[in-house]
Amino acid sequence: MKITLIKGDGIGPEITESMKKVVSALKLDIDFEEINAGLSVFEAEGEYIPQRLFDSIKKNKIAIKGPITTPIGHGFRSINVELRKRFDLYANIRPIKAPGPLDLKFDGVDMVIFRENTEDLYAGVEEMISEDEAHSIKIITREKSERIIRSAFNYARENKRKKVSIITKANIMKLTDGLFLDIGRKIAKEFPDIEFEELLVDNTAMQMVINPQKFDVLVTENLYGDILSDLGAGLVGGLGLMPGVNKGEDIAIYESIHGSAPDIAGKNLANPIALLLTFALLLDDISEKDKAAKLRKAIYETLKDKENYTKDLGGSNTTSGITEAIINNLGD
Ligand code: NAI
Repeated sequence: MKITLIKGDGIGPEITESMKKVVSALKLDIDFEEINAGLSVFEAEGEYIPQRLFDSIKKNKIAIKGPITTPIGHGFRSINVELRKRFDLYANIRPIKAPGPLDLKFDGVDMVIFRENTEDLYAGVEEMISEDEAHSIKIITREKSERIIRSAFNYARENKRKKVSIITKANIMKLTDGLFLDIGRKIAKEFPDIEFEELLVDNTAMQMVINPQKFDVLVTENLYGDILSDLGAGLVGGLGLMPGVNKGEDIAIYESIHGSAPDIAGKNLANPIALLLTFALLLDDISEKDKAAKLRKAIYETLKDKENYTKDLGGSNTTSGITEAIINNLGD
């Protein structure tokens, strides 16, 4: 099977290298079609996303990517946002669960965040009103809200989850968030087997750091989802461990939550586990659940020994060192 691989910037090349070693150890019949995007491509070719990348994703339908650096300002649109919009990858799905026995403040956190990925304040509709005033337009549509909320409920049902919480600020943004909430209430009626909860985003943030075990599946708009999923990552070991996927109707791009980590790039310090768990999500979706379980088990075993920990987990192991430990724990 062919999968498009985007190495990305910063720590991207190091963690994708680690992933390739693990794929080889898992003896999977996967052929990576490597096409890069981002800063390095811009410097060499003058464009951030080459047409051949769009063509490859369209053909293979599945891509896995390392992080891409987004230059701030200069009227520049994020490459990540561009890819999500181009392929209409409307659902950003982020499981929040510790992948091993870590020293954490909370045990038993196990939630999944469904974040709408294409609109809200990330739609990129901004304008300068004057030199001293800038506006950004928040866009919420019925169609896009319905499909993210419905996919969260379908996921809950298929994965035997008990509850879906819809997160808004509908008390203040009565039209935009009000529409999102109203759609949620209607869809919840189609799923009487799933408990439905309405929460405001500020309250959610507080509850996530007081009683995070109460959450199951959360569905929310783009900005709130972005922030809450980083908050969630902090609850279960940090950005170096958190997987994610962007899904549309028939195309998916798998990527971890973290960015290109320029502070540690090129130093063999990055934790590859986030990308490896992202790859495990991909395996689940291509009917390789046994291999996905084997990889998760190897990661769990590796995290039992603090000697294996990289710097983000308080240890001193390297990217290549922890990759080797995981491969050893895969067994035969
Ligand atoms: P970041 O996630 O790159 O880094 C935040 C902190 O976490 C840093 O201290 C970094 O060293 C650490 N960190 C992140 N991933 C790690 C890993 N795998 N192992 C160990 N430590 C890790 O966030 P930041 O600094 O805000 O963004 C850097 C660049 O990445 C920006 O250009 C941003 O736009 C881009 N970015 C790209 C994303 C993507 O491609 N999906 C997502 C988020 C940010």
